[in-house]
Amino acid sequence: MPTDIVVLAAGKGTRMNSNIAKVLHPLAGRPLIHHVIGTAKRLQPRHIAVVIGHQGSEVRASLADDDSGLLWVEQREQLGTGHAVKLAKEQLPNDGVMLVLYGDVPLISQQTIAQCEHAANNGSLGVIVAEFSNPAELGRIVRDDTGAVREIVEFKDATPEQRQIREINSGIVAAPTQYLAQWLSRLQSNNAQQEYYLTDIIAMAVQDGIDVVPINAVSEAEVTGVNDRIQLAQLERYAQTQRVEELMLAGASFADPTRVDIRGEIRVGRDCFIDANVLLSGAVELEDGVSIGPGCVISDSRIGAGTTVLPNTIVDGADVGPSCSLGPFARVRPGSVLGTGVKIGNFVETKKTRLGDNAKASHLAYLGDAEIGRDVNVGAGTVTCNYDGVNKHRTHIGDGAFIGTNSTLVAPINIAAKAFVAAGSALTKDVEQEQLAVGRSRQRNIDGWSAPSASPEGNT
Ligand code: UD1
Ligand code: CA
Repeated sequence: MPTDIVVLAAGKGTRMNSNIAKVLHPLAGRPLIHHVIGTAKRLQPRHIAVVIGHQGSEVRASLADDDSGLLWVEQREQLGTGHAVKLAKEQLPNDGVMLVLYGDVPLISQQTIAQCEHAANNGSLGVIVAEFSNPAELGRIVRDDTGAVREIVEFKDATPEQRQIREINSGIVAAPTQYLAQWLSRLQSNNAQQEYYLTDIIAMAVQDGIDVVPINAVSEAEVTGVNDRIQLAQLERYAQTQRVEELMLAGASFADPTRVDIRGEIRVGRDCFIDANVLLSGAVELEDGVSIGPGCVISDSRIGAGTTVLPNTIVDGADVGPSCSLGPFARVRPGSVLGTGVKIGNFVETKKTRLGDNAKASHLAYLGDAEIGRDVNVGAGTVTCNYDGVNKHRTHIGDGAFIGTNSTLVAPINIAAKAFVAAGSALTKDVEQEQLAVGRSRQRNIDGWSAPSASPEGNT
């Protein structure tokens, strides 16, 4: 039978104490709801209906980039999980199985959901459960003497004995849609929270003689819901551990797997080394043998084989070739394209700039909107003056040119191959091949100079 997935995301998330909808809080760099929708899509269902309410338009907007196949269901008043699923059901066909996921349970795995879906395909009601050491206020799974699931009781409605039960409801269920539709129509709100509880369908299934199949989650984390920021932080650590382990298995070593943060899609080659307190975000590719020093932030970049990134360097939106050396304390900004063996040293900033093979800017430079050839040496303190207050202009430096220390290159400007710029030059005109450009007033040494002496008033 075709599967239709319902994702519940209308709740307010009161315990977050936030102006941002709970499901938009980030986990491993992505909003909670994106994790759930991503997992849902991988199951390739027929429809995904997302129930929105609180800050619904923001939730919808956050998914706008990839909302193909999503049906939006508005729940104006949050009358409970059962009510939310009922509204979604009104938009879904009867001939499939329905799987309910929660927008605030982000780490549920595809394998566990697939088992739940499988139970529904066999005409049963699947419910994902777990044994918690501290079940807190989660719904409890009540079993009969034979061990069969009889009902789910919400914490607020549970007797003291039922509150001792440590088997909890993840909230995730699946069943043939036509059964669900019937059960949903029978829900009542005469309970402690005056809500329509989705969980009441379990007892209805038992009454109707439909098998209730409990599916054990493989970890606590995959069924942990985010209700407050403490739980969010705990899940963040768990998600980080999972990601670091994936990268270790792919061939990367970490100085300390607990002191790194991964917020994106990271690919690593063999024998990469990542030191402490590194943040990797967005789409990052580290080729074989890349070494990232402590305190680096690498986002949306490719770093070529054997390149070393020294401590406290920021690389963002860059394409870095092999065998380069970046940092310490360098800032390689978007549009930086570095060839093989390029050196970008301390306090060097690059932006929309290409550097050819073996070009070097070892200290203290700003290189923006520049095309720099092979084997160019850029001296300390060199600045490309790319901005006139309104427009950006480009600097070209040909292969093998030498830019002396503290040069100011006022763009647009073209410095030809093998040209030589004297230290301390401020250049506004092009330099031809193999010319020496001296752009400074001559040094004058004036005789008979006596140094200022201290004034009687002292320093003011
Ligand atoms: C629910 C379950 C509980 C389970 C727990 C697991 C019910 C009645 N209880 O409790 O058994 O142990 O999840 O995390 O189902 N939502 C809506 N519309 C509503 C109400 C909720 O869309 O009217 C959404 C929320 O945004 C959230 C999800 O449903 O994503 C769960 O709602 P929440 O209020 O957090 O339920 P719990 O009290 O955690
Ligand atoms: Ca919850």
